[in-house]
Amino acid sequence: MKRVLLVIGGGIAAYKCLDLIRRLRERGHAVRCVMTKAAQEFITPLAVGAISNDRVATELFDLDAEREIGHIRLAREADIVVVAPATADLLARMAQGHANDLATAVLLATRAPILAAPAMNPAMWSHAATRRNVRQLEADGVTFIGPNAGEMAERGEAGVGRMAEVPELVERIESVLADGGSESGFGFLNVSASGRASASQPAQPLAGRHVLVTSGPTHEPIDPVRYIANRSSGKQGHAIADAARRLGARVTLVSGPVQIADPDGVDVRHVETARQMLEAVEAALPADIAVFAAAVADWRVAAPGRGKIKKTAGAAPPSLELVENPDILGTVAKRGTRRPSLVVGFAAETQSVVENAKTKRKAKGVDWIVANDVSESEGVFGGDRNRVHLVTAEGVEDWPEMGKDEVADALLKRAAALLAEKRESV
Ligand code: CTP
Repeated sequence: MKRVLLVIGGGIAAYKCLDLIRRLRERGHAVRCVMTKAAQEFITPLAVGAISNDRVATELFDLDAEREIGHIRLAREADIVVVAPATADLLARMAQGHANDLATAVLLATRAPILAAPAMNPAMWSHAATRRNVRQLEADGVTFIGPNAGEMAERGEAGVGRMAEVPELVERIESVLADGGSESGFGFLNVSASGRASASQPAQPLAGRHVLVTSGPTHEPIDPVRYIANRSSGKQGHAIADAARRLGARVTLVSGPVQIADPDGVDVRHVETARQMLEAVEAALPADIAVFAAAVADWRVAAPGRGKIKKTAGAAPPSLELVENPDILGTVAKRGTRRPSLVVGFAAETQSVVENAKTKRKAKGVDWIVANDVSESEGVFGGDRNRVHLVTAEGVEDWPEMGKDEVADALLKRAAALLAEKRESV
């Protein structure tokens, strides 16, 4: 049995906490809840108490409550502290180290890992102040899940800002707890400079980092029913996103249309065309590491038909005029500002694999290129295995044939080591 301390913030997504508590209890965890004043505008302590089967803590200066279980004990008697919904205001107060209510006092006093599930309007999430607070909290060892893209509570609003769904939260809470190991609490965990344990090191060398990955093909419309596509399955890109998440990163995966499932615990943005992919990538920046594994269509149809293009008896087949798509990797690699510290591209080649990859690396201004031979005989497209060459400024490494998940893991561990080196040298 693990002890989850759930800090409920004041947002409409607070209603999801009732289900979260129920699911966690079903899985044998004890859930104790703290609610901010604003949270009580959305759901009542009575409902939360009934579902958690425990007294709900709301007041910092409540003599009875303090006598029964003080805020320090509340903070210490948890294996994980989950903040959901983590509103913009709550994140700001956490980043500043405030302790002017029970929720923030507990968050400051705990040594357990903290998992925050932000939920807010997309404009608030992308605001420079919130970005700054999230970066600060990540540096302090707080782990984030979501927010996801989708419809907002406000009618007609959509974007990134929805709180992660309950199954995602449960999965992530359990993975943080599992990384933690022992039943008894904090012994296994590293204690960061802030004195708070984080479920990050050494198994999670990417904790506090944001990793952006593109994956899958793009579909470029010819008309409303037809499109130009390619054979990419998305397996390698999705494996990279998953590996980054397992190594502790917050991960944004921008995926073209694929037949495989979204990796758990990853913020997935689904797109169809190259132009949509570029837009989603730009919106997800800044990132520490960006890996471009998508097989982006080089060209799109200049003027896709508004209606289905019909055959006309006796007429010549239509010819398609193609125009070049934006180079997403090249655009990000050559950015003056907000360029990720490490930009990794893939080179899918059928001949002179390494030579072409070296040229591509320089031409696109990329740090690393993962080159693979996609000749039909290699069975890379759609397959589970890959044999790659890592091309860096220092030279070329020929990696043995591995599973795509192993390639992903090795690549991300290399990336984490490089970032750690860079951090030490500043
Ligand atoms: N890429 C991209 N945007 C594009 C085309 C490619 O981001 N419009 C990225 C891919 O995700 C990959 C890398 O660029 O990481 C190399 O893609 P590849 O198709 O192999 O090379 P191209 O630059 O398209 O050159 P060519 O097709 O001529 O080999």
